[in-house]
Amino acid sequence: MDDQSLQQELARLRVEINHHSYRYHVLDAPVISDLEYDRLMNRLKEIEAAHPEWITPDSPSQRTGGAPSDKFIKVRHPSPILSLGNAFNADEVRAWLERIAKVDERVLQADYVVEPKIDGLTVVLHYTNGLLTQGATRGDGVIGEDITPNLRTVRAVPLRIPVQAGGPTPPAHLVVRGEAFIPLKEFEQLNQKLQQAGEKTYQNPRNTAAGSLRQLDPALTASRPLTLLTYAIVATDGPMPETQWDLLNTLRSLGFPVSDLNQRCPDLESAIHVCEEAIHKRDQWPFEVDGMVIKINDLRLVADLGVVGKDPRGAIAVKFPAREVSTLLQDIGVNVGRTGVLTPYAILEPVEVGGVIVKRATLNNFDFIREKDIRPGDRVMIKRSGDVIPYVIGPILDARSGSEQPYQPPTTCPACGQPVENIPGEVAWYCVNAACPAQLVRNLEHFASRGAMDILGLGIKIVEQLVAGALVNDVADTYNLTKEQLLKLEGFADKKADNLLAAIDGSRQRPLARLLNALGIRGVGEVVAQDLARYFPDLNRLSSASLDDLQTIEGIGPNIAQAIVDWFSQPANQEILRKLKAAGVWPTQYPAPVSPAVEEEQAIFAGQIFVITGTLPSMSREEAKAFIQKYGGKVTDSVSKKTHFLVAGEAAGSKLEKARELGVPVLDEAGLRQMATRNRP
Ligand code: IVH
Repeated sequence: MDDQSLQQELARLRVEINHHSYRYHVLDAPVISDLEYDRLMNRLKEIEAAHPEWITPDSPSQRTGGAPSDKFIKVRHPSPILSLGNAFNADEVRAWLERIAKVDERVLQADYVVEPKIDGLTVVLHYTNGLLTQGATRGDGVIGEDITPNLRTVRAVPLRIPVQAGGPTPPAHLVVRGEAFIPLKEFEQLNQKLQQAGEKTYQNPRNTAAGSLRQLDPALTASRPLTLLTYAIVATDGPMPETQWDLLNTLRSLGFPVSDLNQRCPDLESAIHVCEEAIHKRDQWPFEVDGMVIKINDLRLVADLGVVGKDPRGAIAVKFPAREVSTLLQDIGVNVGRTGVLTPYAILEPVEVGGVIVKRATLNNFDFIREKDIRPGDRVMIKRSGDVIPYVIGPILDARSGSEQPYQPPTTCPACGQPVENIPGEVAWYCVNAACPAQLVRNLEHFASRGAMDILGLGIKIVEQLVAGALVNDVADTYNLTKEQLLKLEGFADKKADNLLAAIDGSRQRPLARLLNALGIRGVGEVVAQDLARYFPDLNRLSSASLDDLQTIEGIGPNIAQAIVDWFSQPANQEILRKLKAAGVWPTQYPAPVSPAVEEEQAIFAGQIFVITGTLPSMSREEAKAFIQKYGGKVTDSVSKKTHFLVAGEAAGSKLEKARELGVPVLDEAGLRQMATRNRP
C-alpha cells in the first residue's frame, strides 16, 4: 500500500476509533464488539509502528484508558499503569515471542505465568505501614481518580495487611494493582432483585462494576456485590519478588485475593495450551474473562524488555474468540413474571456465539429498548458471557434500511389482555390482574420450587396443565387437587398421580420461612423470608405488621416493607391464607419471636425511634441502622412527631429541616455512639 492510502486509512481509523470510544465511554452505548474495537486499534498501532513520524499526540493510541473525570480528586500513579498488547490466536502469540526475542534473546529460555484476564476495572491500592490509604482507578494510566471511600466498602479489599506471626512483614509502602469486578452469579442475583423491585436492571457485570465504583455514594458501592483479584505490585519499598509466580504468592500471603486459576508454564507452547483449554473451561468460571494473559515469569527480564507505547513487552493478552456477534432482531417478545412484571426479550435469527446457538436474548426493560432505540428488524449486537442468558448490546444503526419502526411497548398484558400499569417511580410495567394465567403459572412454579415448598414433580409442564385445565386458581388450590382430577390430565397414570399427591401432602410441613418465600411477595426471597420468620410467629401476625414494624428488621427497607403490606392488603391474598390454613398448611414458629434488640440488658435504646439522614463520617446507613438496632432502638424512614432522635450526617436535607420544625433532637454520629456508651449499664 502506498503512503498516501496508508495515511488515509490511518485518518479513517482514528475517526472510527474515536467514535466508538465515545459511544462506549460517554454514551455507554457501544455498537461494535470489544474484539472489533481491539482489531481497529491494533491496525492503527500497526501503521503507527511502521511510521512513528505519523503519530500525533491526539491519536487514540496515545491514551491507555478513559480520561479521568472531574467528579473525583485526581491522583498521580507512582509509575504508569500499563496496558497489554493483544494476540488473537496461537500464531500471533508465537509472533510476539519472535518480536521480543529480537530485543533480548534470553526470552527464548523463559518460563511463564498464565492468568485469566478478568473483565473488570483496574484498581490501584496504596498501603502505608500496612493500612489502606488510597484506592484509585487507572484513569489515563498516569493520573487516576481517587475512589478510596468506595473501595473501602469492597470486602475483598484488605483495609489492613494483617501481620501474622512468622509471616512476611508488610513493607512500609506498597502499591498493589488488581481488578475489581462483579462475579456472574452475583450479577444475575442483583438483576433479579432489581427486576422484582421494578427497578432498572444492569446490562453487564463490567459496566455495573465500573459504574458502582465511579460514583460518589459509597453506600451504593457497598450494596453492589463487588470483589477483587490482584496480580501486580506497582511500587514497594520492600523487596520486590523476582518472579511473577513469587509475586502472586507474596500478594496471597499478605492477605490479598489472588486467582486460583493462575498457572505456571515451563515454555510458551504449554502457555498457549493453557489458553486454548481456557476457551472451553471459562463457562464454568465464576467471573467474566475476555482472554488470558501470558506473562514472562522473570520480572527482571520483563523490566529489561521495557515497554512499547503503553504495553510492556514481557506480557501479552490472548483474547478469546468473540462471544459478541451481530444478528437480526426478528421480533420483541414479552414475558409475564410471577409478580406480573412484563419483561421484553429478543427473538433472534439463530446465531452461533462461542459454540452455542442463540435464539433468544435479554432486553432488560422497556426503558432500555427506548434509550437504545432498538427496533424489530434491526441488526443488533448480542453478547454471551459465562453460562448466562445472552443480552442485546444495542442496534447497529448503520445497518438500518429505514423501514424499521420504533418499538411500542404493549398497553395490555400479552397473556390475559388486561391493561398494564406502571407504578410511579419504577421503570417496570405490570399486569395487575390477580387472575392472569401467566402470573399464576409463574407463581405456582415458584411456589413448588426447591427453595420454596419443594414439591417434587410439580414442574413447569404440569403447572401449565393445571392452570390451563382450571384445576387451580391460586397456589393454595394445589392442596385440594384430587386423584380423579389429575388422572384426566395428559400423561398422568395411577403412579404419577399418587406420587404428585404424596409430594404435595409432604410439603404441608415446610417451615414458615419456606412458605413465605413460596408466596412470591415482591422482594421477599429466601433471605428476607428467613428474617421475617424470625420476628413473626405465623402469617396472621405478619399480615397485621405495619410499615414501621417491618422496617425495624435488619435488611428490610421501605420498598420491601411496602410490598409486604400491599401483598397482605389484597383480598385475593387473604383468601389464599384462609385456604392454606384450612388445608393445614400453616407453619408456626414458636417460641415467640425475638425483639430486634439482641440482649435485654443491652437494650439501651429500647422504645426509642430513630431516623438516619445524610452521610455519616464513618458508618454507612446500614451500619448505623444495625448499631441502633443492636441497642434495641427502632429505625424508621421518615421524621414525625413519634421520632425520638434524628441522626444526621453531611448533606442532610429535608429530614433535618422537618426534625428542627418538630423539635426532634438531632445527633451526629459521635453523639449517637456516646449515647450508646454513656447509657450502658
Ligand atoms: S497485567 C503491566 N493481568 O487487562 C501489567 N491485566 O489491557 C499489565 N487485566 O486493563 C496488566 N486481568 O486491568 C494483567 N491478570 C491480569 C489481568 C489484567 C485483567 C486487565 C487490566 C488491563 C487490561 C489489559
